Amino acid sequence: MTQPALSHDASPDQPSAFAADVRSGLTHAPQKELPSKYLYDEVGSALFEVITVLPEYGVTRAEERLLAKHAVDIVEHLPHDVTVAELGSGSGRKTRRILEALCKKRPTSYCPIEISRTALQLCRRELGDIERISIVGYERDYLAGLAEVSKKRAADERLLVLFLGSTIGNFGRLAATRFLRDIRNMLAPGDALLLGTDLIKPTPTLIAAYDDAIGVTASFNLNLLARINRELGGDFPLDAFEHVARFNPDARSVEMHLRATRDVTAHVAAANLTVSLKAGETIWTESSHKYRADEMPAIADDAGFVCSHQWLENEWGFAESLLVAQ
Ligand code: AVJ
Repeated sequence: MTQPALSHDASPDQPSAFAADVRSGLTHAPQKELPSKYLYDEVGSALFEVITVLPEYGVTRAEERLLAKHAVDIVEHLPHDVTVAELGSGSGRKTRRILEALCKKRPTSYCPIEISRTALQLCRRELGDIERISIVGYERDYLAGLAEVSKKRAADERLLVLFLGSTIGNFGRLAATRFLRDIRNMLAPGDALLLGTDLIKPTPTLIAAYDDAIGVTASFNLNLLARINRELGGDFPLDAFEHVARFNPDARSVEMHLRATRDVTAHVAAANLTVSLKAGETIWTESSHKYRADEMPAIADDAGFVCSHQWLENEWGFAESLLVAQ
């Protein structure tokens, strides 16, 4: 089974690309699927921000605690004179800690790389007040943006790539290593990657994190069909679908699906598509892979890095790993 595609290789969400991806995903047999990157339109991004403050979803708070506690120490372990490139700028709240610690030592350039212009603007608003920071946003996909940042830096400047939030978890394990290798190929020896990963934890905790009591994650998931209806002229009856979060023990991932509660036929005009689901059939919309901290050194090695340091948050279970390009 292939993994839903991820945003790193995405061009900006043009209707035609969205339509083509919806068409290929919903005609995929035996498991229908949709790329998780399409969860993040304006509504989906707002719902995700709510998810990050839900009691069940400990991921974001764990990383914030970790970076708040260890930012100064992390910065001590970085190469000198780094330019910071962040893949996916997020809300900027976590990144602030690192940037403040860096800017205290010397003026620092921060290059958020993000497909969404709105997210870049938010990020500039959130972090622009840090003293001695200069922010240059790149409205590009991850690897293209990173290539550009890497090309523009001075010869004596090292790069620090931030890939936080456990976004790496949305890749399958093989694809994750391949992506890290792609990043490595944009870097020079001595450049570093700070990688945030959510750690494996008891299944009930994981399931609750992706199936919260008040249904925000369910809405986040269902919004994908609503978005197809809005943007591509679809007619999915939303009341015929329910949110499912399940743990896949072989992949060690939490999967989100949308399950048809009755036989459904829907049309998507812009994708020139008619799709039928049997009652109980699902559309796979996201996987979030969970890691053990002690598997990072081997993953790093596979991708051309050395895992030189790790910082762990043990209350929830989250790791920040510092990977240095060889
Ligand atoms: C932002 C991709 C890390 O996979 O945990 C949250 C997205 N999906 N709840 C994750 C998400 C459902 C989140 N990432």
